[in-house]
Amino acid sequence: MAASAKMASILKLCALFIAIFLGSVSADPDLLQDVCVADLASGVKVNGFACKATFSPTDFFSDALAKPGLTNNSMGSLVTTANVEKIPGLNTLGVSLARIDYAPGGLNPPHTHPRATEVVFVLEGELDVGFITTANVLVSKSIKKGQIFVFPRGLVHFQKNNGKVPAAVISAFNSQLPGTQSIAATLFAATPPVPDNVLTKAFQVGTKEVEKIKSRLAPKK
Ligand SMILES: *[C@@H]1O[C@H](CO)[C@@H](O)[C@H](O)[C@H]1NC(C)=O
Repeated sequence: MAASAKMASILKLCALFIAIFLGSVSADPDLLQDVCVADLASGVKVNGFACKATFSPTDFFSDALAKPGLTNNSMGSLVTTANVEKIPGLNTLGVSLARIDYAPGGLNPPHTHPRATEVVFVLEGELDVGFITTANVLVSKSIKKGQIFVFPRGLVHFQKNNGKVPAAVISAFNSQLPGTQSIAATLFAATPPVPDNVLTKAFQVGTKEVEKIKSRLAPKK
């Protein structure tokens, strides 16, 4: 191997190690004790939640994902979370789950999780899923019962049930509280509202169109 080729492969290896290292330090922080069951009522502000002095097995338990969620809403889908807010025992452990149910035609609209990569496992039905890279490349696939798809951390992604029967997935996250930012709602249903002149310029449309979307996405009172 020529010296320059050797150098190149050493540099590649270094880049890989740096990428792995950065990846491992930028996920949820490591735990510093066996358990730190979240005291969700504590006024103490820390990165995560303060630990409860005593805890019980139920702090590590949930049946939140046992039953299908109701999908009779405008999107035809429902996300049911099983994160640290529902399972206090997840505090500091860096993982959580969710279940998503989809009516026929249902959409889990484009959104991101700022703190987690997501892996979905299809329980029932079929879905057309995809994420979009920062280079605006759509990476999409149809997946069905028993299959898995990965949405890298922070990237915009969606799932659509184009089938004739309901669909459901279990989602795994490498964060106790992945956070969800739904693109349409973030831009068109924020409080206070994002100014119309920001949205008209960003989307290259008129105020009327922006106002229409805002009224459609307004939180139901
Ligand atoms: C959805 O269905 C449930 C039970 O069938 C009902 O209680 C609820 O009001 C419905 N919600 C909407 C938005 O229609």
